Amino acid sequence: MDKIDIEELQKKMKKRLPRKRYQHTQGVRYTAAALAMRYGADIQAASIAGLLHDCAKYLSEEEILEECKRYQIPCSGTEREKPYLLHAKLGACYARQKYKIDREDILLAIQYHTTGRPGMSLLEKIIFTADYIEPGRKPLPGLPAIRQMAFCDLDEAVYMILRDTLDYLEHSDRVIDDTSRQSFDYYQKLRTAANGPEA
Ligand SMILES: [Fe+2]
Ligand SMILES: [Fe+2]
Repeated sequence: MDKIDIEELQKKMKKRLPRKRYQHTQGVRYTAAALAMRYGADIQAASIAGLLHDCAKYLSEEEILEECKRYQIPCSGTEREKPYLLHAKLGACYARQKYKIDREDILLAIQYHTTGRPGMSLLEKIIFTADYIEPGRKPLPGLPAIRQMAFCDLDEAVYMILRDTLDYLEHSDRVIDDTSRQSFDYYQKLRTAANGPEA
């Protein structure tokens, strides 16, 4: 991949995204870079993925569905019902087509930033976590503990985020995507294998 001009990407995001979404994007960029430092991941890749992860989030639900059709992105029943879930898949597609990112690791980190997936790469876990903990996030009760954990044990932080997200979705009667459920099961098993069932 040719050298990517991060500042150029940042300017494009500033132009395209609503102000709040842009600020969130900045938060994810810097949090992802900090996590990459902590875990020895590629800082530049983490910054780019953080900057672009929500690049398709400014579209309306109808527009997201239209764009998915245009780019032939396969959609599940749940995704058709809740098109906002598709902003991650469409975001990865935009990153490739519009922003000329051809690194698969970055594209996957964008694609799975909302649901996670079983067996995520280090970069995927970093973006998934940075999206949840960046400094501008609305303060949720479990958030301070997850923020600390993110810099101690990333798998445990991923588990806590999936647990809290599923818990929230179950209590608010929202649709739970299959991939989120599979991710939770995977990280819960991983945790039990490492700590025993009592942990
Ligand atoms: Fe997102
Ligand atoms: Fe986000």
